[in-house]
Amino acid sequence: MNGNTIKLLSISGSLRELSSNSAILHAAAAVSPANVEFDFYDGLNDLPHFNPDIDGVVVAASVVDLRKRIKDADGVIVCTPEYAHGVPGVLKNALDWIVSSGEFMYKPTAVISASPSGGGGEKAHASLLLTLKMLTAHIVEGGTLLVPFVTTKLKEGVVTDPETLNSLKSLVDALIAAVHSPSEGNPI
Ligand SMILES: Cc1cc2nc3c(=O)[nH]c(=O)nc-3n(C[C@H](O)[C@H](O)[C@H](O)COP(=O)(O)O)c2cc1C
Repeated sequence: MNGNTIKLLSISGSLRELSSNSAILHAAAAVSPANVEFDFYDGLNDLPHFNPDIDGVVVAASVVDLRKRIKDADGVIVCTPEYAHGVPGVLKNALDWIVSSGEFMYKPTAVISASPSGGGGEKAHASLLLTLKMLTAHIVEGGTLLVPFVTTKLKEGVVTDPETLNSLKSLVDALIAAVHSPSEGNPI
């Protein structure tokens, strides 16, 4: 935290230009208080495939950048689609790069999944939580959200559904509260 400013890093699990998950993260930023600064990470496509053999003294600049941006953030919001009942490979790849370096340790983190189907990407959501907990991220209370039928909640690429916007506001508030009272435990 720098003064009163809270820095949140957002990571979308979709590479699509017109991604609904990325739109949700932009909506989260739009409903956030003025003192919250969003850093929209868009480097998933630049990361090399994770390989412990190349995770040495010298690592790819894209990996250094990802690690620094997580480290510098007061909190992180991940919003992901579900592919084949799992987390998109590009997102899992990014998280694998953080296992050895530990930037997610105790980091206040919120997890959203969104899907055009009624489940809201619940399998990817559950899998992502498992991975983030392994990384000892602090999944904050009130910091998880499933967005089912996501295509009905956007108009021209922008989230307009009032219920979703309210849920996003609550999720950001929960994340901010956790940033203000850091915990070393993992409440859920
Ligand atoms: C290859 C592929 C596999 C998918 N598998 C699932 C799935 O298992 N569960 C699900 O809810 N949606 C699935 N979907 C639909 C995605 O949730 C949908 O494309 C979503 O909008 C992608 O998010 P985005 O708009 O942020 O890119 C799949 C889509 C693709 C292209």
